[in-house]
Amino acid sequence: IKKVGVLTSGGDSPGMNAAIRSVVRTCAYHNIECIGIYRGYQGMIEGDFKEMGPRSVNNIVNKGGTILKSARSTEFRTPEGRKRAHEHLVKAGIDALVVIGGDGTFTGGLIFNNEFDFPVMGIPGTIDNDIFGTSHTLGYDTALNTVVDVIDKIRDTASSHNRLFFVEVMGRDAGHIALNAGIGAGAEEILIPEEDLGLERLLESLQKSKASGKSSSIVVIAEGDKIGKNVFELKDYVEANLPEYDVRVSVLGHMQRGGSPSCFDRVLASRLGVKAVESLLEGKSSYMVGLQSDKVTLTPLEQAIKGKTEIDRELLRVSDIMST
Ligand code: F6P
Repeated sequence: IKKVGVLTSGGDSPGMNAAIRSVVRTCAYHNIECIGIYRGYQGMIEGDFKEMGPRSVNNIVNKGGTILKSARSTEFRTPEGRKRAHEHLVKAGIDALVVIGGDGTFTGGLIFNNEFDFPVMGIPGTIDNDIFGTSHTLGYDTALNTVVDVIDKIRDTASSHNRLFFVEVMGRDAGHIALNAGIGAGAEEILIPEEDLGLERLLESLQKSKASGKSSSIVVIAEGDKIGKNVFELKDYVEANLPEYDVRVSVLGHMQRGGSPSCFDRVLASRLGVKAVESLLEGKSSYMVGLQSDKVTLTPLEQAIKGKTEIDRELLRVSDIMST
């Protein structure tokens, strides 16, 4: 391996820049070249490349977003798109790729590897934490801290006005953000796709909490929750059935994807970048680097894509006990 291309693709997440920095500097450390590929696979198709040395990643370890920009490329899903991308890589002398993103990014990387026998290494970057083979994806820890911070602020109003707040958080089809940030922020109930609480039980729980002397409550709901009502319909439903509650809704949205990465995400990004490049140099390909029991590990990309990250059910019990 003489020249590594690095890209970020899919939804951005805090820590992606720290991972780019790590890949670039690990390449420099081992005296190999590194090329930044802009706008994910779309930039690969268009040959939107830039040489990157250790000084081109100064002052980004603390920055959210991605300096390489990101995109979800539909053209890369076609054989013609991938062929064009391959031609650009060959022309630029790039002989291996590090792709930073979520399962869509890994799926693209794996198909590309299978078609052209091109070495690919994945770094999991998404706030959703929905990738198999790592306890943490880049950006997840930062997103949790952001959500907790915001709910702390919402709690001030909830308690001043004796209100019930429904706070909707991101996570796509996974409830990791909701469950962990919900416990961290002291939520009364946490609604996640992995566990259908049901409308009746939600009402019962809210009634119980009122009866126990609580005057305000926070309910965290994952965007992918399957309770059958969206967060605004839930507000109407609760107000209709429990008129004693004054309900407000807060949809946190993309603020969860932004901001300076936490120390945890910066360290994780640095470790994963080193492992990704050094694994390529050892001749490995089609793996995702991840964190398992605080060790940096390799998981075949195929497993990372197909495997399911279970939620920790003990956390549901802890959440129940905490809302007593
Ligand atoms: O995968 C990250 C994520 O922020 C999800 O939590 C969310 O469902 C989705 O991306 C939003 O995508 P977009 O930024 O394209 O609206």
